[in-house]
Amino acid sequence: MSIIMFASDKGGVGKTTTALNLAVYLSGKGKKVVLVKTDKNEDLTRWKQRRADNGLSDIPLVEAYGDIRDELTRLAGIADHVIVDCAGYDNQEYRYGLLAAEIFVTPVKPSSRLETDTLENISATVRRAEEGNPDIRSYALFTRVKHNRMQAKITLGKHLTEAKGVISPLKNFISELDVFEDCVNEGAGVHDAERASSLTKAKAQIELMTRELGLLA
Ligand SMILES: Nc1ncnc2c1ncn2[C@@H]1O[C@H](COP(=O)(O)OP(=O)(O)OP(=O)(O)O)[C@@H](O)[C@H]1O
Ligand SMILES: [Mg+2]
Repeated sequence: MSIIMFASDKGGVGKTTTALNLAVYLSGKGKKVVLVKTDKNEDLTRWKQRRADNGLSDIPLVEAYGDIRDELTRLAGIADHVIVDCAGYDNQEYRYGLLAAEIFVTPVKPSSRLETDTLENISATVRRAEEGNPDIRSYALFTRVKHNRMQAKITLGKHLTEAKGVISPLKNFISELDVFEDCVNEGAGVHDAERASSLTKAKAQIELMTRELGLLA
């Protein structure tokens, strides 16, 4: 059992896309997965509906708001993986979730200062949460990385690795690929798809991230 939370101070960084792709992949591997919606927006609800409309396998979706700690602990007792998707701003669910999560992932596009500038605040929030939840593992996940912006990824990775007190980067990253968007549009994750441009790359990136997080052997 594990509780993995995707959150950021910033909207539109790829939290929901990455969280649902992780859920689809682990579910396809036979794991019992629950997605937790703590965001008032209906992205995951609509995605789940489209999933059902398209005949794809069901992934349980639970809503939790406010102090979500007890609900996350309860779900961790009945699922192999509890994957929590937070709203794109600092909020109660994110603060409380940090006190119950085992893994915290904050997606960030390395070439966007609007996104990378949030990492200092996020790191400070995580450091405070560590006082109550010392075992939490927290990472920055570089996502929506464009192939012509790899240098920004390398530079930020080096900075985060060397700087003290800031969140560590995952080695594996997620590229900006149409297939991620196309799959979400169909209620799918990339592991539901069989043929699409860059699908092998997209699947490999989700798999490598999952393994780096220690969620599959
Ligand atoms: N790896 C990717 N490649 C291409 N497009 C992506 C990728 N990740 C996310 N997107 C697109 O970026 C936009 C924002 O993604 P998403 O909704 O997952 O972000 P979010 O952080 O959950 O946003 P919010 O804060 O509004 O909840 C969407 O249009 C999505 O399709
Ligand atoms: Mg979202």
